[in-house]
Amino acid sequence: MSSKNIESHLVEKRVFKPSRDFSKKARIGSMAEYQKLWEESIAKPDKFWAREASELLWQQKWSKVLEWKEPFAKWFVGGHLNVSENCLDRHLGTPRQNKAAILWEGEPGEKRTLTYQQLHREVCRFANVLKAHKVKKGERVIIYMPMVPEAAIAMLACARIGATHSVVFGGFSAEAIRDRISDSQAVLVITCDGGYRRGSVVPLKKNVDDALKGDAQTVRGVIAFKRTGQETHMEQGRDTWWHDEMAKVDANCPAIPLDSEHPLFVLYTSGSTGKPKGILHTTGGYLVGAYMTTKYVFDLRDEDVYWCTADIGWVTGHSYIVYGPLANGATILMYEGAPNWPENDRFWKIIEDYRVTIFYTAPTAIRAFIRWGDQWVKKHDLSSLRLLGSVGEPINPEAWMWYHNVIGGGRCPIVDTWWQTETGAIMITSLPGAVPTKPGSAALPFFGVDAVVVDDNGDEVGPNVGGKLVIRKPWPSMLRTIHGDKPRYKKTYWAEVKGAYFAGDGARRDKDGYFWIVGRIDDVLNVAGHRIGTSEVESALVSHAVVAEAAVVGRPDDLKGQAVVCFVTLKQDVTATEQLREDLKKHVRHVIGPVATPDEIRFADALPKTRSGKIMRRLLKQVAAGVTVTGDTSSLEDLSILAKLAAKED
Ligand code: WTA
Repeated sequence: MSSKNIESHLVEKRVFKPSRDFSKKARIGSMAEYQKLWEESIAKPDKFWAREASELLWQQKWSKVLEWKEPFAKWFVGGHLNVSENCLDRHLGTPRQNKAAILWEGEPGEKRTLTYQQLHREVCRFANVLKAHKVKKGERVIIYMPMVPEAAIAMLACARIGATHSVVFGGFSAEAIRDRISDSQAVLVITCDGGYRRGSVVPLKKNVDDALKGDAQTVRGVIAFKRTGQETHMEQGRDTWWHDEMAKVDANCPAIPLDSEHPLFVLYTSGSTGKPKGILHTTGGYLVGAYMTTKYVFDLRDEDVYWCTADIGWVTGHSYIVYGPLANGATILMYEGAPNWPENDRFWKIIEDYRVTIFYTAPTAIRAFIRWGDQWVKKHDLSSLRLLGSVGEPINPEAWMWYHNVIGGGRCPIVDTWWQTETGAIMITSLPGAVPTKPGSAALPFFGVDAVVVDDNGDEVGPNVGGKLVIRKPWPSMLRTIHGDKPRYKKTYWAEVKGAYFAGDGARRDKDGYFWIVGRIDDVLNVAGHRIGTSEVESALVSHAVVAEAAVVGRPDDLKGQAVVCFVTLKQDVTATEQLREDLKKHVRHVIGPVATPDEIRFADALPKTRSGKIMRRLLKQVAAGVTVTGDTSSLEDLSILAKLAAKED
């Protein structure tokens, strides 16, 4: 967040009450109701969660709601269920059978609709394809696809047979895929020939081929969905086409009962070290969390057209495109491409065309829309909208007000939802019919969430005092561990603050108990709502032959929230040139992916260090944010003078 935003964040006084109309129809229609349920969820969690969980379909009921041996949780112990059955079969034989589950639009403009029955059929068939490839319960499958319905079909098919999926965002490179294959020991990769983005084709299959050139011996096969039709290399004996595979199987595939704690997916995310963490989510608790947050936070109705603009490669796509909405029997809209293709009004055109009622997006996107201008919005009828959501980063009050007025026409409640890959489901939010909103605040804890702000000693701080955001009680959709690394799980999340979960955010609570999330306080950047570990970018940089040392910090950015600034020292006799700057940017894109492209590379003759040899990151952050440095930023910067000054102040 920029300093300007922080200022407005502290003086923000506006409060927006839910409209009477919205509250009347909402599941939770008043603050008193919210409070009563929240208190029950904290005082009697077993009773609360058992009631929520029994709305789902269990093939065998659990014997115990929670078994907690800090920091390891088991939820709905002994219960058996299948996520795909809950998202699909449960709606068959009901009026939802022929309802649209997915309304899809490709970037070039094609449209497809899949009803619940059709989606069920496709999922069953693809589950049979997985079985034909001898994918067994518990084995990992990588999914590297653009936003096509087949991405959701692949996920649900894995869930149907108990394979654990790991979706890799299409903005990651071949090397990043390779790391994820090797860490997860995946046996199969599901991909596409390509996907469309801003009018051009992203060569996904080629990236998979490159990823498999290394030591990915665990992979037995690659299945590619034909999306773009471009020339694509198919490796004999390893690669097959989706449609050929689907032609060989039937649509009969009963969902197998899985233990409540069976691993549903592993999703990799950045942490404070160079190696991404495989966040592991299991079956019962995750589904209960995704299902019931979707139900209450978006207050979904059968007649809604619900659109979450996230990519399936992120946790938001998992919980709020696929699992939460489908478990609720909702109609979801899925769009493949960019918001500004062919023009800046593509999103508004989609909302008008499909009469979208619920729209869930990220602050970065909202800030881009503001920059493009209201005229693009005004061209379209957005009167179908009834609820707006925000996720992924703190939303600055200015962007919130614009969202409220220009997109929501002043009539739609906004739910600002705070959560993480690790939490699996929304943790802090307003409830649209019950909780008044304040622009820039994520509002109050969701049911079952015991969130507080603490100081370095772990003691709760008073109103408006900043500190670490922690959760003091386990919750059903929490991560269970880091795949293959229990010690790292313990150390990262449960060691910083005694007896509580800490995942790296700073926050304060105002006198009404509302949370104001400041952002990451660890070495993780939030760039356009995407988590990027500074150390991942640093290791990518030093893997380049000419780089001696690198330090990466965030700089406040009006559009993306944070920008990636890299300070680099070069090996002896290497000259800093413009060309080298570009080469290094390209190198990072190659190693991690376009998602981590540096915004700025600054060459320094040495990195400022403390006497004990630690890089002075705080100083570099200030420099990145605009503190003037002696010397010429176009060539080598001399940071030593600043370092000396800072050392004196310390
Ligand atoms: C940030 C995305 C402020 C936060 C669901 C968190 C937010 C990280 C909000 C998780 C919000 C997410 N307000 N900050 N409403 N939502 N964040 O794992 O820093 O991709 O730790 O999950 O995004 O990012 P992740």
